[in-house]
Amino acid sequence: MTTEQPSSQEGENSTDGSQVGVRGRARYAVVGLGSRSRMFTAALLTDYKEYGELVGLCDLNQTRMRYYNGLFADSYGAEPIPTYRPDEFVRMLEEQRVDTVIVTSVDRTHDHYIVTALENGCDVISEKPLTTDAAKCQRILDAHERTGRKLTVSFNYRYAPRNSAVKELIQSGVIGDIQSVHFEWLLDTRHGADYFRRWHRDKRNSGGLMIHKASHHFDLVNWWLGETPETVFGFGDLRFYGRDNAERRGEVVSSYRSHGNPDIEKDLWAIRLADDPTLRSLYLEAEHEDGYVRDRNVFTDGISIEDDMAVLVRYQSGATLSYHLTAYSPWEGYRVMFNGTKGRIELDVEERSYVSGAAHDPNKPGSGAPKAPPIDSARLTVRPLWDIPQPVTVEEGSGGHGGGDRRLLADLFGAAEESDPLGRAATHLDGAYAMLVGAAANRSFATGQAVRINDLVRFPGA
Ligand SMILES: NC(=O)c1ccc[n+]([C@@H]2O[C@H](COP(=O)([O-])OP(=O)(O)OC[C@H]3O[C@@H](n4cnc5c(N)ncnc54)[C@H](O)[C@@H]3O)[C@@H](O)[C@H]2O)c1
Repeated sequence: MTTEQPSSQEGENSTDGSQVGVRGRARYAVVGLGSRSRMFTAALLTDYKEYGELVGLCDLNQTRMRYYNGLFADSYGAEPIPTYRPDEFVRMLEEQRVDTVIVTSVDRTHDHYIVTALENGCDVISEKPLTTDAAKCQRILDAHERTGRKLTVSFNYRYAPRNSAVKELIQSGVIGDIQSVHFEWLLDTRHGADYFRRWHRDKRNSGGLMIHKASHHFDLVNWWLGETPETVFGFGDLRFYGRDNAERRGEVVSSYRSHGNPDIEKDLWAIRLADDPTLRSLYLEAEHEDGYVRDRNVFTDGISIEDDMAVLVRYQSGATLSYHLTAYSPWEGYRVMFNGTKGRIELDVEERSYVSGAAHDPNKPGSGAPKAPPIDSARLTVRPLWDIPQPVTVEEGSGGHGGGDRRLLADLFGAAEESDPLGRAATHLDGAYAMLVGAAANRSFATGQAVRINDLVRFPGA
């Protein structure tokens, strides 16, 4: 541990038996202090400080934790939060009398922190994906069953107003019983490429995009339909990124990363860590500690994840999903269509209409150019049988994900004032089913066979 301890306080028990701090606020620790952790730490240090206290940080990289403590002091006037290394995780839970652990570390490590936290009497909020393979999922399900603690997965896409609006329409019965879903998700050459620059490119770290990314989408379909996925079949391959694909197209791969590349101005794929204050502090100036290179060339060797994936899922009700994910698209967004016994719902979302080829593309991190306003438009239509199509207006709120982040945080930190008719708070089972569809797809890619979810794990109590 490197920063000063706050003075010791006596804890007390809440009605459900979990420990809460003397001020009645739950005590939170965050493990994994990369970019995603910021949403949670900022919330606990500002809007949600009446509900929870941030009492510990854990990461293998001290530079990143030091950066955040500096930022918390500058932005919120916060005292330094005690920091711990991974091998001090249990000590942190004990010394800081942690009630709830927020897991925002690299996906590969989620199972370790979730299981250890549950076994040490803590509740857990985990970022998606719950974990990266079926064996780790089994460990988590068993630990959850054994300990009886609460495990929540922060599926923020459910809370985006347009996705919530789809759930409302389906719940209203306007298109009857849903028989099938057709869903295409496009990641563009800015966002999609980013998974090929850093740790996600190694399947052992992320489970590949079927788990790391598509678990969001599989969760959406599971939740929209209120159904349990049963069987999965798919094809997936690396067809665009990576050295072999670049060389097949006659492209020359000259550098292994953007930083220090003398030809950076000519490289459409480069990101400029040194020019962006956050990227520089969080990654470039921290890489001497752990060798985490944030700006690898997307056309180098060592990529073991797919960039083009086609998947079929059958649900227990017999409904089917056909799903496609592309990670090298010129634009970013998604299209999803539901076929019901009384009609059809169609949602078209354009999150970014293009990525510019200019050297200083304002859409690229570290470009130095002023940020272009995001183009974010959604068209939601109900097409009843035998009637004219009905456009549905979606009210976007303020804040991240069209206002969805606010409700997500309220649910996560127990600040929501009324129960949610849409049931957006995701349980451990929701997290498990979402990642298991991806794990089944991964197995299907490898074997060429259809894979049953129930052959991957044993659900305790089932
Ligand atoms: N819900 C969403 O929309 C969303 C968006 C982005 C990221 N995420 C999730 O958040 C998590 C973090 O992603 P990120 O983009 O912040 O990544 P990041 O690379 O910025 O941060 C990961 C952090 O984990 C730390 N870490 C690595 N190994 C560790 C270990 N053994 N013990 C403790 N810490 C360790 C790294 O040092 C780093 O600080 C991932 O699970 C990702 O799937 C979710």
